Amino acid sequence: MRVVCLISGRGTNLQALINWQANDMLGGARIVAVISNTETALGLERAGNAKIPTKVLSHQDFPNRSAFDHALIQVIDTYEPDVVALVGFMRILTGDFVTHYDRRLINIHPSLLPKYKGLNTHKRALEAGDNYTGATVHWVTSEVDAGNVIRQVKVPVMREDTEETLKARVLDAEHTLYPSVIRDLSLGLIEC
Ligand code: GAR
Repeated sequence: MRVVCLISGRGTNLQALINWQANDMLGGARIVAVISNTETALGLERAGNAKIPTKVLSHQDFPNRSAFDHALIQVIDTYEPDVVALVGFMRILTGDFVTHYDRRLINIHPSLLPKYKGLNTHKRALEAGDNYTGATVHWVTSEVDAGNVIRQVKVPVMREDTEETLKARVLDAEHTLYPSVIRDLSLGLIEC
């Protein structure tokens, strides 16, 4: 199962995927390319260290969202992906893009969707006084963070938590959740 990862930044989830792949824990999945919309993304370095091909396509080089997304499709499709994984890719995608990768496009989000779509998920969980939060891997549809849930992991919120400590605990859980979903997709344990 050929996986193309789209990133925007730090890439700790990408690193987790790379580690699972290096340890033969990713089933039949293989990361065939990492594409970033920002050239300074640390994830590019992580991919480079793992000898995974990388590409940068900056959204700033395009007049609008649609032009960027169409160019992105062209780049992604040269790698013939079975799955396109959004791995901390911080851009909203057009309906055309989402339709093009129907049933092949997945995302990880740092909350228990449908709770806390969008940004600042940890802050909102803390402000609401939630006892637990978590992370979700879901199919991507044109409505942001609203596609069917594939798998979720629950994470406790501690009384003394700050946004930073909670974020770190959720991120840690993400690092097992995303690789396990990609492995199970490759093994046919999750229906597309
Ligand atoms: C992760 O927490 C991921 O769930 C989140 O961005 C972070 C990326 O971290 N994604 C979203 O918020 C998407 N809406 P990473 O670059 O270290 O993997």
